[in-house]
Amino acid sequence: MIKSLFIRKSLAQIETQAEESSLRKHLNLTNIILLGIGCIIGAGIFVLTGTAAALHAGPAIAISFIVSAFGCLLAGLCYAEFASMIPVSGSAYTYGYATMGEFIAWIIGWDLILEYLFGSATVAVGWSGYVTSFLSDIGLQLPASICQSPFIVDASGWHATGALINFPAVFIVALMTTLLVVGIKESASFNNIIVLIKVTVILLFIGFGIAHINVDNWTPFIPANTGSFSQFGWTGILTGAAVVFFAYIGFDAVSTTAQEAINPKRDIPIGILGSLVVCTILYVAVSLVMTGIVNYKDLNVSAPIAVAIDAAGKSLRWLSPIIKIGAIAGLSSVVMVLLLAQSRIFYTMASDGLLWKSFAKTHPKFKTPYITSIVTGCFAALFAGLFPIGLLGELVSIGTLLAFVIVSVGLIILRKTEPDAHRAFRTPFVPLVPILGALVCLVQMASLPLDTWIRLLGWMAIGFIIYFTYGIKHSRVRKEKQNNQSV
Ligand code: ALA
Repeated sequence: MIKSLFIRKSLAQIETQAEESSLRKHLNLTNIILLGIGCIIGAGIFVLTGTAAALHAGPAIAISFIVSAFGCLLAGLCYAEFASMIPVSGSAYTYGYATMGEFIAWIIGWDLILEYLFGSATVAVGWSGYVTSFLSDIGLQLPASICQSPFIVDASGWHATGALINFPAVFIVALMTTLLVVGIKESASFNNIIVLIKVTVILLFIGFGIAHINVDNWTPFIPANTGSFSQFGWTGILTGAAVVFFAYIGFDAVSTTAQEAINPKRDIPIGILGSLVVCTILYVAVSLVMTGIVNYKDLNVSAPIAVAIDAAGKSLRWLSPIIKIGAIAGLSSVVMVLLLAQSRIFYTMASDGLLWKSFAKTHPKFKTPYITSIVTGCFAALFAGLFPIGLLGELVSIGTLLAFVIVSVGLIILRKTEPDAHRAFRTPFVPLVPILGALVCLVQMASLPLDTWIRLLGWMAIGFIIYFTYGIKHSRVRKEKQNNQSV
């Protein structure tokens, strides 16, 4: 029984399944890098940077970004070898199936569902913040009861805010789900335009903001630790890294589109690494400019970039609405890419028989996995409508960090189990890179609060119930093995 939990999917099985797939292949390298950037730059830089600087790292949030990027880069290098070797949708889940067996694959898949589903909800809440603020600037004040989370969570527990629902957050999820059902091609071109707007807005902020930096705001660059692990000093930088880790989430989503890429073996690794490097440079620059213009203590707000622009004085006032519109457009694209990645994970797990079959159905006309897209959209809308951004973001970070740890370890196993299989990209310095990658991610996980760990365990418990009551009985790999044995 225990041994059968670790039944593996062979590379041949994976390739056959990829050939059977009815998803269209139409994403080129540019689409893929833009898809990556579209997914990466979002609520992390536009919202969480300010909070993380104000509460955990001060101006040294720039160092947190580098620590976090280092972990992502190492895990990204491991992802890239898998993606170039196993070019099917499903990302780390499929990699896990081929190397560590079904049970671990299930854990990763369930973890990725947490990442993308709750991630899209987190960004939708960030979107709602910028939309509400923009509307209020132009004189349209939405009632607080329909644009805030009904709950907040702090050190003393859960509290009701008096709001009913975060309606704008629900709205953006519904809109993006509709686009995804209509088809990925249309969605990818839409994404390209938005990425352009988003990057332009960030470059404008850096370019115009740099002249307004007051270096006094950077002193001390690393504020002294207050006595609590997560508040400032070097340990604060680590907690800051775990919080802003959210800002990098998405580069791995690139690998989930492998089945729709024209040249996956070459383009997926370049797409993953390329989008990661571009975003790291932008993030470090944005955080230096932001904490240079405004004292970090004033950044615990829902739109910190806008606050920095306002603090720069009248000469930059014109930039404020542009930044908000750019953020609104930018966050929409992230919601879309995360929902896309989520429905693909569902699709792949359902094709393997581990989730209900209907999730694997593609639409006869649009050729998109429409049922999974709609189910994903409904859950994401529910979470976005009810929960606050901090709770959702930390949960996403811990879940994704866990998936990265497993992928890094998986690479070491893959080199042992499939040493000769062809891969277009080989991770350098194995096992050093995967070991360091796993360690950097583990340290960041350990810097997150206990409550976040408890929520992660709760999520995993639900996953185990589904696997042992459904997945294990309907697994396609398991059935194929039994059939082969009975012939
Ligand atoms: N990295 C994405 C963001 O920051 C998820 O919104």
